[in-house]
Amino acid sequence: MLIDSFDRRVDYLRISVTERCNFRCQYCMPEKPFSWVPKENILRFEELFAFVKVCIDEGINKVRITGGEPLLREDIHHFIGMIYTYKNDIDLAMTTNGYLLKQSAQKLYDAGLKRINVSIDTLRPHVAQQIAQKDVLGNVLEGVNEALRVGLRVKINMVPMKGLNDNEILDVLEYCKVRGMSVRFIEYMENVHAQVDIEGMKSKELLTVIGSKYHYTDEGFDGHSPSHYYQLDDGYRFGIIEPYNDDFCSTCNRIRLTAEGLLIPCLYFDEAMSIKEAVQSGNIAQAALILKEVVRTKPEKNRWGDTEGEVSKRAFYETGG
Ligand code: 5AD
Ligand code: SF4
Repeated sequence: MLIDSFDRRVDYLRISVTERCNFRCQYCMPEKPFSWVPKENILRFEELFAFVKVCIDEGINKVRITGGEPLLREDIHHFIGMIYTYKNDIDLAMTTNGYLLKQSAQKLYDAGLKRINVSIDTLRPHVAQQIAQKDVLGNVLEGVNEALRVGLRVKINMVPMKGLNDNEILDVLEYCKVRGMSVRFIEYMENVHAQVDIEGMKSKELLTVIGSKYHYTDEGFDGHSPSHYYQLDDGYRFGIIEPYNDDFCSTCNRIRLTAEGLLIPCLYFDEAMSIKEAVQSGNIAQAALILKEVVRTKPEKNRWGDTEGEVSKRAFYETGG
């Protein structure tokens, strides 16, 4: 079992399989980075899988595949299949922008994927175009339909931003509600890579909007999920992710692996250790030592809530959010 210095059990690994993306979301990667990590520096699926096995053997029981956009990585379903075959009761999920989901949903499901999170920030094509800087909405909505059809459980992520999609909170909530999908509103997290003029909506403001139409009750936190849950009177639950909240980190159970093999203890900070050499030389014992060291050095909390904290330099497209 992996326990950090603040007595939190770490049982969740997020793997960013590529930093590349076919969108240029304003809050994440408004411009193409100066350079991508060269393809030869990206770990092969066999190498990533060697490390996933170490993690599972040490007590990881939830794995999420992220990016960049994970569906840009060819044959990603093979990687899912490797993990599923190694331990079929693992909670195996993916976060995607949904653009390529229509053609891959069945393959992903057949390979063992159970759950998928898709970003839908708006239901208006021209706003989607404005946020992702590409005409994306049609493909994304078709992808979501197909994911539901093949039997994947789907959650929707929305980042509410003032002047962009702040008038669509109820529309997105209702779009999800009628389809039996849960929605999570993610407070915009400031980072140096994002467009400078974005102003995110905070949890209180979101609740005012939702409260103008629905009565809801505060359900608090559920297990290790970073979401604060609320329930409408008809039983529908939605979540809000509040990274600026002081106790956001107290139940954190996760570590992150980048496509080039950096193991990262916290989304906010720059610290990381590489597992690349260990897996490429087949030194599994060394990989396990690095895993334990990264868990040991997991910081107590992020600094988004600090008024004096400088802005995070971490790129979301490297760590998968
Ligand atoms: N703030 C909040 N959420 C973000 N995401 C990406 N960048 C940010 C940010 N700066 C979200 C995306 C996606 C998930 C992977 O992370 O909306 O749903
Ligand atoms: Fe791509 Fe996701 Fe970043 Fe948008 S938020 S640019 S879809 S990685």
